[in-house]
Amino acid sequence: MSFDPPQRVAPAFAVPGDANRVTAFDKLRANGIYGFDSKDIRSRPFTLLRAQVLRIARARGWRIIGVTSPTPKVGKSFVASNLAAALARTPDLHTYLFDFDLRRSTIARNFQLKGDFGLSHFLDGTISDLGAVARTIPGEQLTIFPSFVNAAASDELVASNRMDSLITAMRQLPEGTLCLCDLPPVFANDDAVVISQKIDAYLMIVEDGVTTRKQVRDSFRLLSPAPCIGTVLNRYSAGLISDDYGYGYGQNKQYGGYYDN
Ligand SMILES: Nc1ncnc2c1ncn2[C@@H]1O[C@H](COP(=O)(O)OP(=O)(O)OP(=O)(O)O)[C@@H](O)[C@H]1O
Ligand SMILES: [Mg+2]
Repeated sequence: MSFDPPQRVAPAFAVPGDANRVTAFDKLRANGIYGFDSKDIRSRPFTLLRAQVLRIARARGWRIIGVTSPTPKVGKSFVASNLAAALARTPDLHTYLFDFDLRRSTIARNFQLKGDFGLSHFLDGTISDLGAVARTIPGEQLTIFPSFVNAAASDELVASNRMDSLITAMRQLPEGTLCLCDLPPVFANDDAVVISQKIDAYLMIVEDGVTTRKQVRDSFRLLSPAPCIGTVLNRYSAGLISDDYGYGYGQNKQYGGYYDN
C-alpha cells in the first residue's frame, strides 16, 4: 500500500509513506494482534475502545494520544497495537502508531517488524530520514514507527529538539489522521511524564487485581495537566478486556472513586 498524506504545511520532518518490510495482518494473530479482524471475537473490545477514543478525540480536537500505565507489564503495548489495528479499519482515517517506549520497545515484535533503525535512531540522530523507520501493512490504513533499543539515554531523546520536531510533524499531518503513541509506564522513568506534556491526551491501562488505587491516583497527578482520555481495565477476570457490562473501557468517572483524579 502506498500512503502519501497530502500535507498542507511542510512538516519539520517529512512523514513517509510506504514501507519496505510488510507483514500481512492475518499472520499477526499469533502475536495477539486481533484488532484488524472485526469477525474475530477477540477484536470486539478494541472496536468498542476505538469508537470511544474516536468520539472523544474528535469532539476535543485531539490527534496525538499516548498509551501508558502506572507500572510495567499491564498490557499497554498489547492494547496500543490492537487499538491501532482497529483504528486502521476506520473509513476516512489514517492511523500512525509510534513506539515511544524507547527502553522496552515491543511494537516491532508485535507486528513482526525487523530492522536496523527505529525511532530511537531517528531521535539520536543516527538517521535523519523518518521514512527509513516507517512501515505499512498492505491494504491497511496504518503506518507504524517501531523503535529498536539503542545505547542512547531515553530521557535525553524524549526531551530533545528532534523529539519536539517530530511532534510538530505529527501535528502537521492532515485532518483524518490519528497518532497513537505507546509509552513507558509512569513510574519506570520520566519519559511518560515528559512525553505526556507534548501530546494531546493519554489512555491509562490498568490491570485487574494488580494496579492499585494509589498507583492510578499518583499517575494522574504526575501526568497532570495532560488530560486522560479514558482508562482500560486489562486482564479483567471475566474476559480479555471487560467489566460488568462486558468491556473495560471507561472515562474516569464511570469507575467511581477508583479512577478519580
Ligand atoms: N488482555 C490480554 N490478553 C492476552 N494477552 C495479553 C493481554 N494483555 C497483555 N497480554 C500479553 O502480556 C504481555 C505483556 O503485555 P504488554 O507487552 O502489552 O505489556 P506492557 O504494559 O506494554 O509492558 P511494558 O511495561 O514492558 O511496556 C504480552 O505478551 C501481551 O501480548
Ligand atoms: Mg510495552
